[in-house]
Amino acid sequence: MRVLVVGSGAREHAIAQACAGKGHRVLCTPGNPGIAQVAEVVHWPQDNASLVALAQEHGAELVIVGPEAYLAQGLADELRAAGIPTFGPGQAAAQIESDKAWSKAFMTRHGVPTAAHRSFETLDAALAHLGTCGLPVVIKDAGLQAGKGVTIVRNHQEGRDALRAIFAQQNAAAVIEDFMTGQEVSVLAMTDGEHFALTLPSQDHKTIWEGDTGPMTGGMGVICPFPVEDAEMDIIRRDIIERTLQGLREEGLPFCGVLYAGLMLTPDGPKVVEFNARFGDPEAEAVLPLLESDLAAHALAAAQGQLNPDELRWSTGASAVVILAAPGYPGAPQKGIPLQLPPTGTGEYIFHAGTAEQDGQLVSSGGRVLAVTATADTLPDALSRAYALADQVGFEGAQLRRDIGFRIGLRGDEAPAPAPEQRP
Ligand code: GLY
Repeated sequence: MRVLVVGSGAREHAIAQACAGKGHRVLCTPGNPGIAQVAEVVHWPQDNASLVALAQEHGAELVIVGPEAYLAQGLADELRAAGIPTFGPGQAAAQIESDKAWSKAFMTRHGVPTAAHRSFETLDAALAHLGTCGLPVVIKDAGLQAGKGVTIVRNHQEGRDALRAIFAQQNAAAVIEDFMTGQEVSVLAMTDGEHFALTLPSQDHKTIWEGDTGPMTGGMGVICPFPVEDAEMDIIRRDIIERTLQGLREEGLPFCGVLYAGLMLTPDGPKVVEFNARFGDPEAEAVLPLLESDLAAHALAAAQGQLNPDELRWSTGASAVVILAAPGYPGAPQKGIPLQLPPTGTGEYIFHAGTAEQDGQLVSSGGRVLAVTATADTLPDALSRAYALADQVGFEGAQLRRDIGFRIGLRGDEAPAPAPEQRP
C-alpha cells in the first residue's frame, strides 16, 4: 500500500517505521533525517490544499496524520472530501484536543469521568475564581500548546502568573480544574468512530526532571505496558472510550483515528486528564514497536469504517523510551549540536524527534531531539537496553531523565521527589 505520513517528529518516525516494516511504501512530509531512512521524505508546502495535491500526485491509498495542528486545521476533512482514505479526525471532532474548554464541557455533557472544572474567557474572571480555589489546582491553556500549557499550581502567585501568561495571548481561554492524585496512564483507542481497539496502556513522564519535578514538557520517556487492573480497564473501555465515541457520534462528530485518553487512576477510579486526537508522542514510540499486526492495514480499515479490533495483535513483551532533549528545553532549546548515533540491534530504535542535517552532519534542531526505544521480554530489561543505547549517543549537553519507570510499584500519591527549585 502507498501510505502518506504527515508530520516530522519521533511519533511520525515510529508510524513510518511500523508501516515500512510491513512492506508498505511510505512517503512522508515534511519528515526528518531519521524518517528518510525508512520512507521517501518530501519537502512540500504544509497547507491543506498542497497536502491533498501531494497525496493525489503520489497515489496515496492511505494518509496517516500525525500531529494535532494538521487535524485542527482541517486536513483530514479535506483529504476525505477528495476521496482519500484518511486516519485522523476532522476539525470539529479534533476539538476534543484543540479546545480544552470544549472538551471538558463535552465530558460533562456525556458523563465521562473527569476532574471538576470551570472554563474562563477573561483574565479577571479566571483570577477571581482562582482566589476561591483550594490548592493545588491545575490551570490549562485551552488551546494547543504541545503538552506545555498545563501548570500544577501550589500557591496563588504561581496561579496568577500562569493565568496572565495564558491571557497574554490573542483569543485565549483557560480551564481551572481540581488536582487529581494517582498514577497517570495513557490509553490510545484506534477507532473508525464506532469500533475501537485499545493499545497497550503506557505511562509518559511529562516533566523535565527526575521525580516528576520541573516544568512540563511534551514527554520525556515512556514505559509500556503500564499495569492497569482489569476492573479499571473495564471502566476505561466502557465509561471513557465507548461513552466518548458515542457522544461524538450523537453530536454529529464521528471520530476516525486515535482517541488518546490521558488518564489518572484516582482512588475513585480512572478519570480523564485530557483527550488528544492522535497518537501520543512519545507514547507512539513505545506502543507501536509492540504492535505485531499491520498498522497501515488497521488504519485503512478504520478509514473505511471497518476496523476489526480482534485483528490487532500485541507482543507480550515490554518497551521503554528515553527522550534525549536539547539543553534549554522546555524553554529555548539549543540547536545545531552535532549528534553521533550508535548502531541499533533488533528491537532497538532511535526515533528522530528534532534533528536536521547540516553540511552532512546530523544536528539537533528542536527541543526533544531523539526518542531512544528498546523492547525486551520484561520492562526492566527494556529499560536497561534503552538506557544503554541512550548512553552511546553522542550529544553534548543532552538532557535525559534517569528515572523512567520509577512509579511502577508506587502508589499514585507517593512521589519521592526533590523540590523543583532545588534543581539546577
Ligand atoms: N505525551 C503527551 C502527548 O502526546 O500529548
